[in-house]
Formats: sequence, structure tokens, C-alpha cells
Amino acid sequence: MRLATLTSGGDCPGLNAVIRSVVRTASNEFGDTVVGYEDGWVGLMEDKRRDLYDDAAIDRILSRGGTILGTGRLHPDKFKAGIDTVRRNLAEAEVDALIAIGGEGTLKGAKWLADNGVPVVGVPKTIDNDVNATDYTFGFDTAVSVATEAIDRLHTTAESHNRILIVEVMGRHVGWIALHAGMAGGAHYTVIPEEPFDVADICKSMERRFQMGEKYGIICVAEGASPKEGTMEFQAGEEDEFGHQTFTGIGQIIGDEINRRTGYDVRTTVLGHTQRGGTPTAYDRVLATRFGVHAARAAHNGDHGTCVALHGENIDLVSLEDAVGQLKTVPEWRYVNARALFG
Ligand code: F6P
Repeated sequence: MRLATLTSGGDCPGLNAVIRSVVRTASNEFGDTVVGYEDGWVGLMEDKRRDLYDDAAIDRILSRGGTILGTGRLHPDKFKAGIDTVRRNLAEAEVDALIAIGGEGTLKGAKWLADNGVPVVGVPKTIDNDVNATDYTFGFDTAVSVATEAIDRLHTTAESHNRILIVEVMGRHVGWIALHAGMAGGAHYTVIPEEPFDVADICKSMERRFQMGEKYGIICVAEGASPKEGTMEFQAGEEDEFGHQTFTGIGQIIGDEINRRTGYDVRTTVLGHTQRGGTPTAYDRVLATRFGVHAARAAHNGDHGTCVALHGENIDLVSLEDAVGQLKTVPEWRYVNARALFG
């Protein structure tokens, strides 16, 4: 049998671990070969592919960040218009099943292909951890580790200068990275997209710290955060060509407002793509590898239209439909518990 794989959407630490795992499992367990499409759905449309061999080169990519296949984004309308090309390219390459590794958008694309008769298995990836069907996605642990280390470092410089330091982390629609890094790094306030913030409350919290003698503060802000209506001026970003909302620098905006209201010295650090680059943590390598093993088996065994998912200790197969139904947002109770530590 011949399997194909691709990585699509924003990159994520652990993608190479999945690719390696798919290739090794396909070869070791079934004697299957694997072809890799380059640059995500774009490469599948343009038939940009190469054979992936179960050799020393594939073995060495386990700890490497990024994706050896490259990644890309394709507007859903262009993707749908190209269904015949996809079918033709897969048939010409004699591919029996495709393993699509990606986040919400990629899995939606995979579901659409499956609905149209293309044999697909999905592997969820995103540092944002917002895929509903799985307890965790690989990449998240690495992103949280990077953000936590940054917060650890910000404590000492903030304290030395009696400053408030804001760290803006990724999280377009959900605040998992902010919630976990804020908690692990001991941030004094955390702001997530799910819970619109009141800057007056953040100021009060910082003022209390200063009155108590702690003359610095760390605030962890998810990039997709927005203020409660009527609490401060705010202009949301436009949508980009792929329908993704762009951001206007909420960390800086909050910092300016705190400075204006309290007079404290405030600086903002935006971690941006440092959270996505570089080597995956051991946890992410293991999760990505386990996903790859199960995805290769599902693709070989004809369990198409499914997606691998972590449930507790187990890797299960869920339907692609369930995987893309809705985003996994931070539940209110998790934020309430995090709030207990603010200040
Ligand atoms: O992978 C998800 C994500 O990391 C978001 O948190 C972030 O907004 C987005 O990707 C940015 O990706 P890019 O800069 O590639 O558009």
C-alpha cells in the first residue's frame, strides 16, 4: 500500500516527529511506502511530492522543529474548487490514503475531502491546543515551556526596575497558552480571549501589589484578548486573505492604558513565533510519535474519515466531524481557578 502525508497551516514543534512516526510505522508494520506532499494543500494541488524513506535521515528529524515537508495555507474556496485535481494527483501517485496533519482549518479541509470520498485520516496539531476532540495537541507543551521560561526571566528584570512587564503570547481564539504559562510562570494577572478584560481591574490588581510592597508586576496576555464592551477604546484587527483575524498588539494597548491610568512604568514583550519554532519538548515528541503510529495504522486499515485524539492516557480515533465541530476554549472554571492566584 502507499500512504501520503502533508503538513498544513501554521507550523508547530512535533510535526517532524509525526512524519517520522508515520513513515516508520507504515514501513515496519505493513511494508507500506509513504509519499510526502510539500507545502500543505498547495503541494497536493500542484503535485509537489517526494518519497519519504524509512532511513537514517527520517530518524534524525524527531527532535527537529518546523516541518521537513514545508507548510502552506490555501483559502477554503480555492481548496474546494480543486477537488478534481486532488483526486487526479492522488490517483497518479497511486496513493491509497492520505494523512493530513494540521489544525482546525486543515482538519476541516480533511473532513471535506472525506465527505467527497477521498480516503483521509487527520492528525491534530496546534500550539494553541484548541482542537476539541483531543485532550492535548502536540506543540502546546513546547509553546507553554517557551512562554514560561520567558516569564521566569521577566520577573527578575521587572523587579530590578520596579516595572510592570506584559508578555503577549499566542492564542488567536483561545487562551490555553496564556492560562498555562501564566500559571507556571507565576504571572500576577492573565488575560485570555474567552474572558473579556476590564483594564480597571488589572490596574487595581497591580496597585494592590505595589501598596503591599511588591513593586513590580507580570501580566500574561493572549494575543486574541479583547476588552469588556465600554471599558476602553479598542479597534479589532481586520481579516487576512485566509479569513484569519489579524491582531493589533493587545499587549502594548493594555500596557499603554495601564501607564496612562496609573503612571507605572510598563513595557511589553511579544513572544510571537518563538513559541512555535525550535525543538519540541519530550512530551510533544512522545505525543506526536504516538499520533503518527495510530494515524498510519488507521490509514492502512481503512479507518478513513477519522482523526487521532488523546483521551486521558489513550490515543483514540474520532470522526473528523467531531474533531472540527467546535473550538476547545478555556472553560470558565479554569479561569476562575487561575484568578485565585492573581495579584
Ligand atoms: O498556530 C496557531 C497560531 O500560532 C496562532 O496562535 C497565531 O495567531 C497564528 O498561528 C499565527 O500564525 P501566522 O503568523 O503563521 O499567520
